[in-house]
Amino acid sequence: MAFPPKFIWGAATASYQIEGAWNEDGRSPSVWDVFSQTPGKTYNGDTGNTACDHYHRYKEDVAIMKDLSLPAYRFSVAWPRVIPTGRGAVNQKGLDFYSRLVDELLSAGVDPWVTLYHWDLPQILQQQGGWMNPSISDAFAEYTRAVVDTLGDRVSNWMTFNEPQCFVGLGLINGHHAPGYLLPQTDVAKAAHHSMVAHGKAVDILRAKGGSKYTIGYVPTTQAMIPATETPDNIELARKAMFSHTPARELFWTISLFSDPVYLGKYPDDILEIIEKDLPKNWQDDMALISRDLDFFGINLYSGKIIGTDTQGVPCVLPDAPGKPQTALKWNVEDETLRWGTRFMYERYKKPVIVTENGLANSDWVHMDGKVHDPSRIDFTRRYLLGLEKAIDEGVDIAGYFHWSLMDNFEWAEGYKERFGLVHVDFTTFKRTIKDSAWWYRDVILSNGASLH
Ligand code: NOJ
Repeated sequence: MAFPPKFIWGAATASYQIEGAWNEDGRSPSVWDVFSQTPGKTYNGDTGNTACDHYHRYKEDVAIMKDLSLPAYRFSVAWPRVIPTGRGAVNQKGLDFYSRLVDELLSAGVDPWVTLYHWDLPQILQQQGGWMNPSISDAFAEYTRAVVDTLGDRVSNWMTFNEPQCFVGLGLINGHHAPGYLLPQTDVAKAAHHSMVAHGKAVDILRAKGGSKYTIGYVPTTQAMIPATETPDNIELARKAMFSHTPARELFWTISLFSDPVYLGKYPDDILEIIEKDLPKNWQDDMALISRDLDFFGINLYSGKIIGTDTQGVPCVLPDAPGKPQTALKWNVEDETLRWGTRFMYERYKKPVIVTENGLANSDWVHMDGKVHDPSRIDFTRRYLLGLEKAIDEGVDIAGYFHWSLMDNFEWAEGYKERFGLVHVDFTTFKRTIKDSAWWYRDVILSNGASLH
């Protein structure tokens, strides 16, 4: 079999990582402005103040998408542009930017896929407790309504939250991401729960506007757990490891903690045992709202771990072979990441899966011939897409794939150290150069995956 005829091919970005214009047209600071502008928080002191200057150059960027025959583009809306005070007045100028962007995309034949929250919380809401404050879900509902009222006549594909594990885990537990807190489990569990309540409220608003015409999903992340060999025992070990908090990962990084409530209407038993005492009072009353029906399961997948048994027969993550291939950020290259990652998600959540992000960090530069040659990105993506195709062959319902990222951008705490884009961005002149991988991806798109072989 091959990729299905209506397979969605796309590329993705996020507001803070590309827009710049951090203090223009009424936008207020987000937690990421405050964090990145604090010395010592990001690599090289890099900030998203200007990023790719996409706010001013979106027309050029959409023209590139058109050149690349990109059918779909996933981007996020910056909450502090839309409701700069967190609650109350809507900033029309902020919304107008996204309205112009959507019009530009549609006239270039690119279908917009909008993420409502990709980590840029208005700082003013952080000062009121951020995700720890139960009223945040009402603030998020107001913001969602403003976005949907403006874009909802032209956008029909929506994602509520991107990688809740990161803004909760990296943001509130170990301080690597904004707002940079080191909080105890009792606060973090509440923040996680409130984010899922906010998700539910947003889904209700989206459905009220678009009904079944809208395609709505949620986007957690995980590392794929890959069976060392394809025996039923090893497959079962990998499946278990994928959804449990031990031994492979920390509690608030576990995908089931954030996805079971949303797709299955309950917390996983093993996790509930640990966090129930910390959840907000009467948390059970929220579960119906949290688990409104969705159209797809979005998953960001980059890497995997090999699961097998040690010499005593005890299940474990197998150690890396010396010199194992890694990307520039030292993430393992595992060809079967998309195959097993999507398969386990589909089995458990029973929704069409969309790979909402996948790609690699690379140290690309403009070569002396003026082009950007990035054979590693081509090889990586080919391996991963062949793995995805295998999953399709094995019966997994996979509706789409979005490459991360359309263009090089601000990689959070890693600043501009490495590059994830199909398009190279010079962060001094803002010149865009289409990389070899982007032209290669265009052929993949135009052949609906046939050129991978
Ligand atoms: C996940 C995040 O959603 C995105 O913002 C980030 O840049 C990529 N992964 C790469 O780390």
